[in-house]
Amino acid sequence: MKEQLNKTVQFLKERGFGTPEVGIILGTGLGQLAEAIQTEVEVSYNHIPFFPTATVEFHQGKFLFGDLSGKKVVVMQGRFHVYEGYSLRDVTYPVRIMEQLGIKTLLVSNAAGAINLNFKKGELMLINDHINLQGSSPLAFKGVTQLGERFVDMSAPYDLKLNDTLKEIAKKQHITLHEGVYASVVGPQLETRAEYRMLKILGADAVGMSTVPEVIVANHLNLNVIAVSVITDECNPADLKPVNIQEIIAYATKAEPDLVALFKELIKEL
Ligand code: HPA
Repeated sequence: MKEQLNKTVQFLKERGFGTPEVGIILGTGLGQLAEAIQTEVEVSYNHIPFFPTATVEFHQGKFLFGDLSGKKVVVMQGRFHVYEGYSLRDVTYPVRIMEQLGIKTLLVSNAAGAINLNFKKGELMLINDHINLQGSSPLAFKGVTQLGERFVDMSAPYDLKLNDTLKEIAKKQHITLHEGVYASVVGPQLETRAEYRMLKILGADAVGMSTVPEVIVANHLNLNVIAVSVITDECNPADLKPVNIQEIIAYATKAEPDLVALFKELIKEL
């Protein structure tokens, strides 16, 4: 994998990618942050060597390099999911690329369903811990020790200092920021009522189909990580309505200005 990583990084450097301090992953329906960036270069995923082969849905996915809040950032506009047929190694390959480009901090966002019914659609949840229900690990491969530790510590996968800073920023800006545990499932089907009950028993506050693989790899690479879920639907097993993906995306779009405000200020304070 090392050789491929080097080739991908070399390609991006040739395209004009500099040395970013911060990496940002934008989740489903969360593209507005990209508009706040003074973009120097952007490259579609399907032009980047060794990137997972772009599917039809993802021909719009791209990597951006530019300035945000006075810092150099690299942004993934759109991410890869296991439910699209990619492996966990594929899904997390871009995180390794961002690290090789130079990032020290990774900001992650996603759209998630609320298991904790105190959390409402359109609100934000800071992820303070996670449950990996992807069925495997992005670190479960032969050559992993060439890239870092095999037995990666997970006692604090999300940076406590960054979390405190973000909570302060949210308070100052009067933005509701819940805090809780994110469970990551494969999908793409949504959960049954029995699965929602199970997730609650397991201790999850929110559920989604991403983020945990990227966070595991970010920890493998000793990056500082912070992650925020946009709550797009309420998963009440006692009153479950058929899911409406358009509505999920609409709630993501509605909540996004708050997420953008938080991330912009956080980057300023890094
Ligand atoms: N499950 C339920 N609701 C959701 C999800 C999910 O994975 N993602 C966004 N809303």
